[in-house]
Amino acid sequence: MNDQSLQAPAWYLQGAPHVWRPYCQMKTAPAPLAVEATSGARIILEDGRGLIDGIASWWTACHGYNHPHIAKAVSDQLARAPHVMFGGLAHAPAYTLASRLAALLPGDLDHVFFAESGSVAVEIAMKMALQHWINRGVAGRTRFLGFLGGYHGDTLATMTVCDPEEGMHSLFAGVMPAQVMAALPVDGPTEAALDALLSERGHEIAAMIVEPRVQGAGGMLFHDDEVLRRLRRMADAHGVLLIFDEIFTGFGRTGDLFACQGAGVTPDIITLSKALTGGTLPLSAAIANHRVFDAFWSDDAGAALMHGPTYMANPLACAAANASLDLFESGAWKENVARVGARLASGLEPCRAVPGVVDVRVRGAIGVVEFEEAVDVGGLCARFVEAGVWIRPMGCVVYLTPAFTIDDADLDHLTGAMRKVLNA
Ligand SMILES: Cc1ncc(COP(=O)(O)O)c(C=O)c1O
Repeated sequence: MNDQSLQAPAWYLQGAPHVWRPYCQMKTAPAPLAVEATSGARIILEDGRGLIDGIASWWTACHGYNHPHIAKAVSDQLARAPHVMFGGLAHAPAYTLASRLAALLPGDLDHVFFAESGSVAVEIAMKMALQHWINRGVAGRTRFLGFLGGYHGDTLATMTVCDPEEGMHSLFAGVMPAQVMAALPVDGPTEAALDALLSERGHEIAAMIVEPRVQGAGGMLFHDDEVLRRLRRMADAHGVLLIFDEIFTGFGRTGDLFACQGAGVTPDIITLSKALTGGTLPLSAAIANHRVFDAFWSDDAGAALMHGPTYMANPLACAAANASLDLFESGAWKENVARVGARLASGLEPCRAVPGVVDVRVRGAIGVVEFEEAVDVGGLCARFVEAGVWIRPMGCVVYLTPAFTIDDADLDHLTGAMRKVLNA
């Protein structure tokens, strides 16, 4: 509790001793801000202040908050059937969504398994990969290859494929079986090193997993599409499955609907979440190609994928996702991402001159100012709030990933606040 909480509403004061907050040392962290509502690109606080949201609620609200088309689809579905179990029952929102995703994704990524969070989708993708080998009668492919800078979630198995230092999970070293870690093949030497590693240990590896184009939570690190083409070539050469985790990059964030499609590389399994429902409801999917799915298609009941989260394919969430896809179908997002990207680039460029800044970069609707050292997240957040914006830095990076629909004035306010607070 601090001074802010003195004016806090009753629900806040009653709940604060009981809520365990994400990613913070609660004893010393600043108190969270009480939110009353959201609208467009804004978060409205209980005290009446409106903050322009620079990160679209952890990269989810790509069409802005409270989009009427999504809201109507969810409320219509709420009246019809908020939820039914997915075991033995089928419903239009999920079946429609599965067929639409299969049509949008490249290649033969046709088999959609729904879950509720990104981490769980990655867990399922890992389990699919492992069992694909078991079902095919191939022994020994029990490890995963993850990449430095990668982040794939906070659950126990996903922690093992995160960057061992940057992935926030270094405390747990040794708890779970160690996976194989490598640098991304960004140039000749790193490509040769990965190839050598795969020659030596490829037979142990079920799949390699990567965030294509942008490693998000690991520091908004960008790589070229050629890296993904190399990974595809090496995965094929060494018989390893390739998983693209597009939980952050999917749905337009890097300028293409999916990063894999833009790069012209089709993985064997892709994971999606975050902007899947336009930032309204929790939903995720692990989507496999025919090669993976066919290993499960059998007269043997034991070859089935034994997985089924209680709320998988929740009809409300699927209705929201279908409505979000309608908005993507209009095509306006692409121009908006280009517009946002261009304005982020010009608005953030002056930050290059700030002492301690080592890079300023933009890809799609992602703008990044990287510092040499980790920044003071709490202190910067407070100053951003004073400047009327919601920006939450991560490690060494202060970044913007706004809604694609944000208008130019709000975008300029965001980049202006970055320049002001960072003293550019
Ligand atoms: C690439 C990637 N994978 C997985 C996750 C985990 O998703 P969730 O937080 O929904 O479990 C995230 C979350 O930031 C992510 O960026």
